[in-house]
Amino acid sequence: MRIIRGRVFYRGRLEPLSLGIDEDGRIAAIKKVLRGEEEVDHGEAVILPGCVDLHVHMRDPGLTDKEDFTSGTRSAAIGGVTTVADMPNTRPAVTRPRILEDKISLLRGRACVDYVLYAAPQEARAVASLADAAAFKIYLAESTGGLQVEPGAVPDIVDAAGREKKLVVVHAEDPSMLAREPGRDLRGHSTARPKEAEQKAISSLARVSASARVHVAHATCLEALDAAPRGVTTEVTPHHLFLDWTRPLGAQGKVNPPLRSREDREALWEAFRAGRGDIVASDHAPHTLEEKDGPFEEAPAGVPGVGSSFPLLMRRMRAGDIELQRLVSAMATRPAELLGIRKGSIEVGSDADLLAVDPRRIERITAKRLRAKCDWTPFEGMEGCFPLAVYLRGEPIVEEGEPVADGRGRLLPVSA
Ligand code: DOR
Ligand code: ZN
Repeated sequence: MRIIRGRVFYRGRLEPLSLGIDEDGRIAAIKKVLRGEEEVDHGEAVILPGCVDLHVHMRDPGLTDKEDFTSGTRSAAIGGVTTVADMPNTRPAVTRPRILEDKISLLRGRACVDYVLYAAPQEARAVASLADAAAFKIYLAESTGGLQVEPGAVPDIVDAAGREKKLVVVHAEDPSMLAREPGRDLRGHSTARPKEAEQKAISSLARVSASARVHVAHATCLEALDAAPRGVTTEVTPHHLFLDWTRPLGAQGKVNPPLRSREDREALWEAFRAGRGDIVASDHAPHTLEEKDGPFEEAPAGVPGVGSSFPLLMRRMRAGDIELQRLVSAMATRPAELLGIRKGSIEVGSDADLLAVDPRRIERITAKRLRAKCDWTPFEGMEGCFPLAVYLRGEPIVEEGEPVADGRGRLLPVSA
């Protein structure tokens, strides 16, 4: 048995413990002291469940000048993410079973971490045939990929998803409230796609929230969290928590829904650290520097972030701004629960997806450190705590902070 030792986050607190990992990569024993053929002692470092990122765009197939499945999942691993859920706006977009099956075959053997895939049914009758998708994405407004669903079709799609017992993730902006003219800078972008458009779209989910489990992607502000009807879960992103339109990012900070004001960001952070918002997801959405360097109005929206989310949040934990329990819940346990996968917590029987991090080891976040294919990050120069080691089903995928194994990631079985 392989033994991994350290200060383990187990049942809500940190304790010096040994984890015994069986041949299938599951945690088989949790004890004060365990002996095995192979022992790795992380000493004072903290052992946490690997993060589960419910919202990434790995751009594969079709847009691999921005990212590909190997480069994107490698960056995930560097940042302590051991499972990703990939969005359907790849090319061709995952709207039909044939396209989903092709994407599944194409990605096999190429991921550094485990993964599941979303589909974006455009009509209710497509839903049942997309059984291999772990969850569905519905875009209420146009954003990258042109997958906006006819408003009239939304209730039936959600209903059908409910019958399949699948989570429905919604990009919630009301298209009728978006300005016809695009903004010319970050502030203008926020005005052109205002908070009210988010609020209205999120509240409108009350109509459908009884039919399926509905989840709101990327809530940008407190008002968006407040608008969520009872039973609808919400997600916040590191860019809305740590960046706002006062930053000199130009189009590198352009994202949908937009970065808001400093006051909005601070209120979102306060709410989040107090327990509002179910999960953190990166909405990792890389575009090339060339695309981002053009005129602001024409630049595509989206920022990379899968490798920087955990380091940023861990840094805030070290600073005393957020509880470890809250971090683990929002980045690992809750997202795994929402997807219905056996990940996200350290328990006997769960997959040994783990990270070891020394919170005292603070680094600067750089595109180079993240190995981003797009070669930029909106968090450049900010502080982060990166994991020293990351394990996927008990096998090391990151050692001394560097990726050591590609191709071990698997498509997770979907439980209906
Ligand atoms: O900013 C965004 N970028 N918002 C989205 O909804 C899609 C994403 C992308 O795929 O680039
Ligand atoms: Zn997205």
